[in-house]
Amino acid sequence: MNKFTIIILIIFLLKLTKSNPNEDLETFSCPFSNYCPNKTEVPIFEANQTIEMYFLQAPLLKPELNNTLAGLSLYHTAIGILEVKSNEQYFIEFDAISNFVNAVFPNLVNTTNSTKIIWCDTAHVCFSKAKIFPPESYFTNSTLIGKMNGKIFNDFMNWVFDYNTSVTSYQLFYAMELWPQQEYTPYIASQACYNFVWDSLYALNQLGAFFLPDLKLRHDFAILHTKPPVVVNPKDPQIHQEIVDFYTWFDWRNKTFEQIIKDIIFFIEDPKFLYVNGDYFLIEMVVPFVSAHYAVEELSFDSKKQFKFQSKSK
Ligand SMILES: *[C@@H]1O[C@H](CO)[C@@H](O)[C@H](O)[C@H]1NC(C)=O
Ligand SMILES: *[C@@H]1O[C@H](CO)[C@@H](O)[C@H](O)[C@H]1NC(C)=O
Ligand SMILES: *[C@@H]1O[C@H](CO)[C@@H](O)[C@H](O)[C@H]1NC(C)=O
Ligand SMILES: *[C@@H]1O[C@H](CO)[C@@H](O)[C@H](O)[C@H]1NC(C)=O
Ligand SMILES: *[C@@H]1O[C@H](CO)[C@@H](O)[C@H](O)[C@H]1NC(C)=O
Ligand SMILES: *[C@@H]1O[C@H](CO)[C@@H](O)[C@H](O)[C@H]1NC(C)=O
Ligand SMILES: *[C@@H]1O[C@H](CO)[C@@H](O)[C@H](O)[C@H]1NC(C)=O
Ligand SMILES: *[C@@H]1O[C@H](CO)[C@@H](O)[C@H](O)[C@H]1NC(C)=O
Repeated sequence: MNKFTIIILIIFLLKLTKSNPNEDLETFSCPFSNYCPNKTEVPIFEANQTIEMYFLQAPLLKPELNNTLAGLSLYHTAIGILEVKSNEQYFIEFDAISNFVNAVFPNLVNTTNSTKIIWCDTAHVCFSKAKIFPPESYFTNSTLIGKMNGKIFNDFMNWVFDYNTSVTSYQLFYAMELWPQQEYTPYIASQACYNFVWDSLYALNQLGAFFLPDLKLRHDFAILHTKPPVVVNPKDPQIHQEIVDFYTWFDWRNKTFEQIIKDIIFFIEDPKFLYVNGDYFLIEMVVPFVSAHYAVEELSFDSKKQFKFQSKSK
């Protein structure tokens, strides 16, 4: 069983065990996960204060599955902040507020004449006052990556506020044909916790933060292997029906095993879609269809930011 199969199983497990809020459009509301438990007001530091930055990792879905997914190298990543003199600690992260499972699969709600597709893929930046060093921390890995003064931190938080208003949905997958491939531009980039972390590190570098040399920071990510995606019009009734059929396939709640096996045959032939921030793309998947990796993503501060992984996945 490869790693992706395991992820899919876990997602289905969550999907199956999650009580579907309701099937009624009037009363439907997106579920709210344990997003940003220790939300804190952002402090304003003095220019003469020293702030250290940490790269933080916690096992993915830790609240639901404890440390299980660390065994598969599946982590959530965030940035840790330490004000050196006071020892005040904070973390900053980007997270789907309805749990990332809801950002991968929509809710289908039947109305009198049609099936509505409702996405609960909202994501926000969370700023929390919390311990960042294990074992007291939620995070299990805390690696020092650099430092900055209070002025740079304040400027950085302004950048974060902008990010938080411009990036408001979660997108788990990269869409690309091949991986690994150096200096490759994916057709569609993911918009996940690590994208926020890497974008932040570039922003911090621009603002003048100091980074330790030779950082080898790893993150995991998932790829849909596909030919160039084609944007489609979901208002077209036929396309709408195809999209509904595609996502209905993932609703395994009341299907027998036999039915699922029968459906797989249609699934392989039927059109497949990817939803990205309000748009639907028709995708033509290629071998190996879906993959998951845990690899170092290079921080090439002196060159223009691009999708550039350093090592092969394990
Ligand atoms: C840092 O600056 C603040 C105000 O600008 C000042 O009150 C404080 O004494 C300074 N601290 C140090 C250690 O220089
Ligand atoms: C989570 O896993 C750790 C060991 O990895 C264990 O010590 C702890 O008791 C577990 N917590 C729960 C709630 O199962
Ligand atoms: C919506 O209706 C279709 C048939 O019209 C049915 O197959 C499907 O299971 C229903 N979906 C939900 C979520 O109730
Ligand atoms: C459903 O379709 C019927 C017949 O086409 C139409 O009369 C009715 O207004 C529609 N209802 C809704 C809620 O759109
Ligand atoms: C990001 O935006 C959300 C929604 O407006 C808000 O609840 C959250 O506090 C913001 N995060 C930060 C770090 O300002
Ligand atoms: C939030 O704060 C509470 C109480 O201070 C603490 O027990 C908990 O571990 C914190 N949560 C996180 C995610 O750090
Ligand atoms: C913690 O993260 C750093 C940076 O990605 C990595 O080099 C290190 O191996 C990790 N440590 C553990 C115990 O996973
Ligand atoms: C699944 O079956 C149960 C019991 O028959 C029913 O209450 C529920 O609405 C069904 N769910 C879907 C999505 O069809």
